[in-house]
Amino acid sequence: MKIYKCKDYDEVSKKAANIVIQNMIQKPNIILGLATGSSPIGIYNYLIKAYQDGLISFKEVKTYNLDEYVGIDKLHPQSYSSFMNRVLFDHVDINKNNIHIPNSNSIDINDLANEYNKLLFGNQRDLQILGIGENAHIGFNEPGSSVSNQSFVTKLSEETRKANARFFSSLEEVPKYAVTMGIKNIMFSKKIILVATGNNKAKAVYNMVYGKITEEVPASFLQLHPDVVVIIDEEAALELHMETECLEF
Ligand code: GLP
Repeated sequence: MKIYKCKDYDEVSKKAANIVIQNMIQKPNIILGLATGSSPIGIYNYLIKAYQDGLISFKEVKTYNLDEYVGIDKLHPQSYSSFMNRVLFDHVDINKNNIHIPNSNSIDINDLANEYNKLLFGNQRDLQILGIGENAHIGFNEPGSSVSNQSFVTKLSEETRKANARFFSSLEEVPKYAVTMGIKNIMFSKKIILVATGNNKAKAVYNMVYGKITEEVPASFLQLHPDVVVIIDEEAALELHMETECLEF
């Protein structure tokens, strides 16, 4: 794992976006794994700016999102499909046929997870963007999820529902289930960039980097991946006791 400790959210976003931009310039038909949550929004803003400045194009890019809620319509403002349109896709020249997000409107959700899994194996991601939950979940692989899981339907922990309640009008409205890439799918990406900011992520970051590799800490499996870049702010790095190092990439 390569770890960069940057000053704040903006520096973290800029550094991560610069790595993505370099990879997009080198490979215009790159396959990206994308994440939701508040952590990657800053990266997406920098990608939109790079597109507007003519540095990158999404015309040949394919994207695969990590996860989607089950039980809300994909047109619901808090579905991850709506979220991705709002924060990235509506602002760049991506071909909508190249966007892949598990379809929460599907009638048989288990079939859907299997279909998504086939797509994921046929389209290895060049680069996966990740955030991390306060309980060290990645995608929606909650503590205790099997490492051999491929795309599957998962029950969200109460901790995760509470953390995500800020996006809904009440806790009751937060879906109880989601479809997510499994850890195996995430590990299949050639490169992974994980961003985290804020002191509420400090413990999860410490456990991911130095903790025992265990299903209780889903992000700890990233220690086994050959190309992971972790980019965190000073608060998320509190328990790592490392020098600030956020050099220009
Ligand atoms: C959600 C998503 C994760 C994300 C996590 C952290 O549960 N499924 O992919 O990493 O929340 O979210 P945030 O970046 O808002 O803290």
